[in-house]
Amino acid sequence: MTPIIYIPGDSGALALGADQVAAAIKAELATRGQEARIVRNGSRGLYWLEPMVEVLTGKGRVAYGPVRPKDVKSLFDCGFLAGDQHRLWLGKPHKIPFLARQTRLTFARCGITDPLSLDDYRAHGGLAGLTKAVGMAPLEIVRQVTKSGLRGRGGAGFPTGIKWQTVHDAQASHKYIVCNADEGDSGTFADRMIMEGDPFVLIEGMAIAGIAVGATKGYVYIRSEYPHAIRAMSRAIQIAREAGVLGWNVLGSQHLFDMEVRVGAGAYVCGEETSLLNSLEGKRGVVRAKPPLPALQGLFGKPTVVNNVISLASVPIIMDKGAEFYRDFGMGRSRGTIPIQIAGNVRHGGLFEAAFGMTLGEIVEEVGGGTASGRPVKAVQVGGPLGAYFPPALFDTPFDYEAFAAKDGLIGHAGIVVFDDTADMLKQARFAMEFCAVESCGKCTPCRVGAVRGAETFDRIAAGIEPEKNLALVTDLCNTMKFGSLCALGGFTPYPVMSAINHFPDDFQPTRCMEAAE
Ligand SMILES: Cc1cc2nc3c(=O)[nH]c(=O)nc-3n(C[C@H](O)[C@H](O)[C@H](O)COP(=O)(O)O)c2cc1C
Ligand code: SF4
Repeated sequence: MTPIIYIPGDSGALALGADQVAAAIKAELATRGQEARIVRNGSRGLYWLEPMVEVLTGKGRVAYGPVRPKDVKSLFDCGFLAGDQHRLWLGKPHKIPFLARQTRLTFARCGITDPLSLDDYRAHGGLAGLTKAVGMAPLEIVRQVTKSGLRGRGGAGFPTGIKWQTVHDAQASHKYIVCNADEGDSGTFADRMIMEGDPFVLIEGMAIAGIAVGATKGYVYIRSEYPHAIRAMSRAIQIAREAGVLGWNVLGSQHLFDMEVRVGAGAYVCGEETSLLNSLEGKRGVVRAKPPLPALQGLFGKPTVVNNVISLASVPIIMDKGAEFYRDFGMGRSRGTIPIQIAGNVRHGGLFEAAFGMTLGEIVEEVGGGTASGRPVKAVQVGGPLGAYFPPALFDTPFDYEAFAAKDGLIGHAGIVVFDDTADMLKQARFAMEFCAVESCGKCTPCRVGAVRGAETFDRIAAGIEPEKNLALVTDLCNTMKFGSLCALGGFTPYPVMSAINHFPDDFQPTRCMEAAE
């Protein structure tokens, strides 16, 4: 049997030299007159081991990593085409502890299949959900999604089934499915990984959504900083259309659904759904006031489902395995699995899909292995730039929407960024205000003006100018932003700011600030 060599084409792996490794492997094969098929798969999400090269041998798949071009010759010398030992040998990938601990439902195929092979997708369970959906009444699909307990993975955690029900019930000449692939949160990469590593699962999820609510057209709005995801999605859509997965007769049924990619120009606020819709319509990315809800008057004024990539990519497995199967994972009102993205100063950064309910401490210390610097963890920011900083004292918080809200935090898109004890939380709090000032769409005053004043006030605190009075002013300002802003950019900036002040008071001590002033 001709061996198959899997070399990730994921942009994370490319950044670490995957293309150079592929070139070195091809050259070595030619030199030795050996044959092998090379597949550019997605990443399994173990980024500290990328480029992680796998070989399919008679013994199954064997992984090696992190592979550099200079390692290639010795890999061949050691018999890596037969899966033999080498100092980079990792064994069977699914037995690597970081992968073995996961429950991969949404990411079941990512890193395993050839992302642009529809046959490979099918062979690994792909299209089973859509096949069921085309034979079901649209309302029954909506009911299944509602019953599964799936909540939006883009940030707000709104129940997906309820959103779909609203669009389903709306009467209109046209309806749309818009996939939010703007993925602007710091430390997040789940959307990118799935679009590059398993694009058909998103296409399948969007087609199911279209059939469920009566929408015939879908758009994937991808940030311009994701060129590889844009390419993979565009090509996968073309392949799906040619194969009859999209188009006039989805999988040979009477349902019409087609979709295309739209590229955003790169503004954090364009991830906010109404701003995104404006951008899609060719307007400036400014937030719209709600109501009307996008579900009733969204894209071009028509009823629109706006869902995150992971929300939509989780639908095929729900349709395939059933709502109960999915709902049985998780805790409380957080059902199913969540792809947690572990980043920042951490030993084992990567994508970890697990049922809701693991504690933050387990994720950071056990899965992530603590800090990369080897110093103690000081803080973990969960949920992107608008998320709160959690100190180790709160590491017993389970990964659950309500549990995080009870601690004045949020799960958001499930990105966690780890900081060691050298982090200066005053600087981080100021950064939150500065970020908001830079990214504000400018529509409402608490955010547009408040964020600028907030950053200036922190400068005064850092300079030792009336620190106590200015801290009280920041607290007051945070309340105004929280309750007076039109959208969550201004409204949630107080979370990182106030969590930094409340959990790390030493970093804001007047004495420290006085020292800075001297
Ligand atoms: C400033 C801001 C940025 C946002 N960025 C994103 C984003 O990049 N991706 C995303 O899916 N949702 C983002 N959201 C949330 C969206 O407004 C919306 O809730 C989400 O796309 C709905 O999909 P879901 O229900 O599947 O989560 C953002 C919200 C705000 C306020
Ligand atoms: S909070 Fe900020 S981003 Fe949101 S509408 Fe107001 S100005 Fe725009």
